[in-house]
Amino acid sequence: MKKSNILFSSMIAMALTIGFSSCGGGGTETKTEAVAEQTVIEEPAKPAENPHALGEKIFNEKCIVCHQANGQGIPGAFPSLLGSDFLKNNRLGAVSQVLNGTPGGSVINGVKYSAPMPPQVDTKEEAVAVINYVANHFGNDFGMITVEDVKDVVINPRTP
Ligand code: HEC
Repeated sequence: MKKSNILFSSMIAMALTIGFSSCGGGGTETKTEAVAEQTVIEEPAKPAENPHALGEKIFNEKCIVCHQANGQGIPGAFPSLLGSDFLKNNRLGAVSQVLNGTPGGSVINGVKYSAPMPPQVDTKEEAVAVINYVANHFGNDFGMITVEDVKDVVINPRTP
């Protein structure tokens, strides 16, 4: 084949290619857009009120450092709240304890805790909330008390 012929045929090839490609895709495409029918039947479920929201917050802010995330404390240093008879049977004492602290020296499950527990909260609402939380968590199931139940608890004057 002569050189000019090669050139010529390749030009035809190019022309054909251009021709074809310009034809292709020219059709009318019908896009079927799926129109999602939005029938919202359900109202988003309201999250159930967590009765322990405040108590949990106070525990995580204040008590966790000593009594630990699992409520079990550190033997010999900070007593466990889990299965605590004191917490179970003397709820007023527990509320008073978080309001006023204790001097230390309690013997709990045969172990003496000599460190004092400093006062933790300033109001009975907070005290009841955190005691209800610890009394019903970690495996405890001691039931709830109300602020009314602790109306006779005395809040000691704060020493600055
Ligand atoms: C600085 C460490 C510390 C912090 C913070 C602390 N405690 Fe205590 N807690 C102790 C110590 C020490 C004792 C033992 C006190 C005693 O012998 O008088 C104790 C005892 C208790 C007891 C009685 C004993 C038992 O095991 O049932 C309860 C209830 C209690 N704490 C609840 C709380 C709650 C609720 C908070 C947070 C609001 C809290 N504590 C924060 C150190 C702490």
